[in-house]
Amino acid sequence: MVNQEFHQWLSAMPKAELHMHIDGSLQARRMLSLADENSVSLPYSSVEEIEAAYQFTDLQSFLDLYYLGASVLRKEQDFYLLMLDYLTKCREQHIVHTEIMIEPQTYAPHGVSMETVMTGFRQAIKEASEGWGQSVLLILSFLRHLSEREALDTLREAAPWRNDLMAIGLASSEQGNPPGKFKHLFATARSLGYRTVAHAGEEGPPAFIRDALNLLKVERIDHGIRCSQEPALVERLVRQRVPLTVCPLSNVRLRVFDRMQDHNILKLLEQDVMVTVNSDDPAYFGGYLNENFHALADSLSLTRPQALQLAENSFNASFLPDDEKKLFVASLHEYAAGSD
Ligand code: HPA
Ligand code: ZN
Repeated sequence: MVNQEFHQWLSAMPKAELHMHIDGSLQARRMLSLADENSVSLPYSSVEEIEAAYQFTDLQSFLDLYYLGASVLRKEQDFYLLMLDYLTKCREQHIVHTEIMIEPQTYAPHGVSMETVMTGFRQAIKEASEGWGQSVLLILSFLRHLSEREALDTLREAAPWRNDLMAIGLASSEQGNPPGKFKHLFATARSLGYRTVAHAGEEGPPAFIRDALNLLKVERIDHGIRCSQEPALVERLVRQRVPLTVCPLSNVRLRVFDRMQDHNILKLLEQDVMVTVNSDDPAYFGGYLNENFHALADSLSLTRPQALQLAENSFNASFLPDDEKKLFVASLHEYAAGSD
């Protein structure tokens, strides 16, 4: 298959996305219009100027812009539009199931309540699920540069939306904020029936992956690519079938790998780690999920069987009930058979 045909085949393949921060899907055009509407002053006055700022040297340099961008979100309608923009992308990109990280702690300093955020998000999700059968779960993601006390307060505030929130997660600056800082948060959330994920081993050391598993008892690791530095850890991930939600374009943009050719995702797949492909912050990193698959095709010679395995992993690593996983995997096999 020539590459363009393969790109199309990858684009139409049914897939799940398990690692996407909703604020990371805020497009420059929408950031500008909401800043104007809500009288938030930004140091940028055009889409070109915002996009010119997408030059990151590490995670923190990205997070500074990411939180500035999210500061334009204030009203229920803003959250509705943000969610609807992303879910519309899911429809276009054959992302039939998605597990989205939402981070209410980002908006609280601007006086935005969880009620405002959740009402807007819920309306968009309702329209997408009724409109085209979009499957969506939400992950309540905490900011690890803040204290555990603040996270516990936010968890308590989220109680009225317990049924809308499948899992909790841990994001933001990894260096200096080890998993152990959030032991009580994760224990409390687990006792309330939340499923659990955490970012670990993106910029942080392999020990953070081990700590997320041992101390937080997470079921899935976001990123986790630094596991390769410790063969025994890779063996454990394989043995315990711990999924990694890997984000190739993000990792290159944030200099975790210098070039896509250096990325270890297919090596990990070969080693039988349950890796999946995800976009992380698609508006900032130059592509949504399909563009991540295309990058793997272009730079790492991704094959069809590898792409199918990655997509199958994405369904199996999800927090859907088993019967729904099976239906999605069956539709993937049907897609593969139909295009033989
Ligand atoms: N890492 C940590 N926190 C984040 C990221 C990431 O890649 N994206 C958005 N918040
Ligand atoms: Zn992330």
